[in-house]
Amino acid sequence: MEKWRATSRHLLRHFSKDLFDRRMSPSFGTFNRQLSSVATTIQRNPLFSSINSDDISHFKEILGEKNVIHDEEKLVTANMDWMRKYRGSSKLMLQPRTTEEVSQILKYCNSRCLAVVPQGGNTGLVGGSVPVFDEVIISTSSMSKIVSFDKVSGILVCEAGCILENLVSFLDNQGFIMPLDLGAKGSCQIGGNVSTNAGGLRLVRYGSLHGNVLGLEVVLANGTVLDMLRTLRKDNTGYDLKHLFIGSEGSLGIVSKVSMLTPPKLSSVNLAFLACKDYSSCQKLLLAAKRKLGEILSAFEFLDTQALDLVLKHLEGARNPLPTSMHNFYILMETTGSNESYDKEKLEAFLLHSMEGGLISDGVLAQDINQASSFWHIREGLPEALMKAGAVYKYDLSLPVEKMYDLVEEMRIRLGPAANVVGYGHLGDSNLHLNISTPQYDDAILAQIEPFVYEWTSKHHGSISAEHGLGLMKADKIFYSKSPETVSIILVGSYLLPKSLCIDIVLLLAFKSISMTKFP
Ligand code: MLT
Ligand code: ZN
Repeated sequence: MEKWRATSRHLLRHFSKDLFDRRMSPSFGTFNRQLSSVATTIQRNPLFSSINSDDISHFKEILGEKNVIHDEEKLVTANMDWMRKYRGSSKLMLQPRTTEEVSQILKYCNSRCLAVVPQGGNTGLVGGSVPVFDEVIISTSSMSKIVSFDKVSGILVCEAGCILENLVSFLDNQGFIMPLDLGAKGSCQIGGNVSTNAGGLRLVRYGSLHGNVLGLEVVLANGTVLDMLRTLRKDNTGYDLKHLFIGSEGSLGIVSKVSMLTPPKLSSVNLAFLACKDYSSCQKLLLAAKRKLGEILSAFEFLDTQALDLVLKHLEGARNPLPTSMHNFYILMETTGSNESYDKEKLEAFLLHSMEGGLISDGVLAQDINQASSFWHIREGLPEALMKAGAVYKYDLSLPVEKMYDLVEEMRIRLGPAANVVGYGHLGDSNLHLNISTPQYDDAILAQIEPFVYEWTSKHHGSISAEHGLGLMKADKIFYSKSPETVSIILVGSYLLPKSLCIDIVLLLAFKSISMTKFP
């Protein structure tokens, strides 16, 4: 322990308050930024109708005047994605308050052949939550009730429009936490989280939503309500259909209610900000943390020196926890357990051992909630800092952990000084966020990045979307991660359900290399 203490320039002190208590969660803000050019060849399907005044009157009858938004100014935000990269031209946003209203809307849209796009907090990063053309936006924002919470089982049932951070606060009062945590928690909604199978900062501990979601209520494109809202941990009565909707990005139906398992809130939380000399040390540290910290490890995030530098330059309130020298890599490592002295002893022994073994070059343990918040601010603020730095080309990749950082280095060589190549992400889940920052958007730079980045990922058997989804950005890139046979089955399966209008415009046209004539 002495060496660790002596080497670090910061006092290492354990703190045991719950970080979930007061951690500030920067909502994804908005920026005045130019749209980049989106090279999309998708054409509007001529079979879709356009909104007319009868449609608007009909929706007003179902939803009431104030829940039918057709004022152009109000639609500006809903038509634009958080990255300011995709912009639709929807003339209508509907705000249903109940499942029944969602059902009536979809039934009507289906009969009139009106294309729709579901929208939650609109914090997605791949253009999946905004209209491509003039689709009717169905916002889940007014469906934000908590239906039930069982304090013994920790099972929460809520409506799709609940903001993640509100669920975190609700559960906190009950002595529980959400198994999902991400930088956008102040704005994103649970229905969108489920529909995109959002990953986030604590997947390494609590697993993906496929494990935590126990049941769903979903409205299909023809208005049929599919009640799969079970609250059972075990149910082996044949196919578990809810999994089709987790991560299907609204292409099969609109999630209207969610039932999920929430873990109890534990009292002892520690957060360390550590420096490593090279990527190999980061990997070894991860392995050692899994082995030695085992059940208390709750987050293992990494960022490279370029990422820290960018955050320090562009993110308000960001401070370097290790200011005396820059290091090549930084790790944010969190433990969450139930026994303060046991956790402290375990963590300190681990840090000392790792420092003696040369895996850690320097580090600091948050001494209080404010310090912990400022460490998380660095990691969670990266997307915002990148947006402020200029144009950003964003890639979210799953790769074998030992290969992951090679891509960042190759990209740096490939692009030279014209671009700032930044690597960060969820190292504990082998999930790299490769971000390329340039002063302005440039098609020539994009041509240097794509398809190279997708081919590289495919060559290493990775996934071109670890957690952000396909959206408009990557729908036509699915073949880099899935075989044609698999995609065919996905398409056949999707046609067994009532034909969803949004899958038609986004996915089917993107999958144009598969003959549409094969499908009904
Ligand atoms: C994150 O981990 O910060 C989010 O997935 C957003 C991003 O990739 O930039
Ligand atoms: Zn992420």
